[in-house]
Amino acid sequence: MKKVTVRATKPGDVDALLQLQKRVYPTITPWRRDHLANQLEIFPEGQLIAEMDQHIVGCASSLVILWDEWADEHTWCEITAAGTFSTHNPDGFTLYGAEVFVDPGLRGQRVGHTLYEGRRQLCRHLNLRRITACGRLPGYRAVSHLMSVELYVKKVLWGDLVDPVLSFQLREGFHFCGIMSDYLPEDDDSCGQASLIAWVNPTYDPTRQTALQIASSSLTEFQP
Ligand SMILES: CC(C)(COP(=O)(O)OP(=O)(O)OC[C@H]1O[C@@H](n2cnc3c(N)ncnc32)[C@H](O)[C@@H]1OP(=O)(O)O)[C@@H](O)C(=O)NCCC(=O)NCCS
Repeated sequence: MKKVTVRATKPGDVDALLQLQKRVYPTITPWRRDHLANQLEIFPEGQLIAEMDQHIVGCASSLVILWDEWADEHTWCEITAAGTFSTHNPDGFTLYGAEVFVDPGLRGQRVGHTLYEGRRQLCRHLNLRRITACGRLPGYRAVSHLMSVELYVKKVLWGDLVDPVLSFQLREGFHFCGIMSDYLPEDDDSCGQASLIAWVNPTYDPTRQTALQIASSSLTEFQP
């Protein structure tokens, strides 16, 4: 198996990333170039790409939020401010996974795992309390005439069914916390549904501020 490395995304990666995204989601509206630029400006360390042989083969993008503001029902569009990440809040304690994808020809080679490990490292490094995300459920549509989405997810948790995304996330140590209805209405394969998942950072230290809180308070102090 070839070596996978993860690094922070740079502005020069945007073209390759957009091309890869088109192959991953041929039917979903692609990111806008200016939104990707926003994401990189607002929270550069939260935007990760995976490389193999110096080619971009996947990405994981994140922002930081105050989870109490978002824990109820929300959509992808609301929590990411339509992909601009202007909802990023350096006072937050939660790293929110807005997207992760891997080159369709390279799935099952631990690229997704390496990206998730990059996210966990970032969460530990910033002293954040947890990672949350709302994962697609792309296996649901095929059986949606037979069962509710709640039963579908239970069957994935019980091991009766395999979902291409949720099964990966469970394998990565995330916990299922509930259904987000109409999270991404254009995601036909998931019937617009998503699973709210969470990973709690075992090294989180509540006696310390998060690295982003420290950085933003020192910025405020030194503003003229
Ligand atoms: C979900 C996705 C990122 C997984 O990436 P990947 O590189 O194929 O996953 P990995 O090879 O790193 O798998 C990590 C572990 O999860 C398991 N896993 C991955 N896909 C799985 C699946 N479909 N079913 C069951 N287990 C799975 C692997 O077996 C592996 O387990 P191991 O630790 O025993 O080796 C990838 O399938 C993808 O890009 N999907 C399309 C985009 C998408 O829908 N993203 C989710 C947005 S919410």
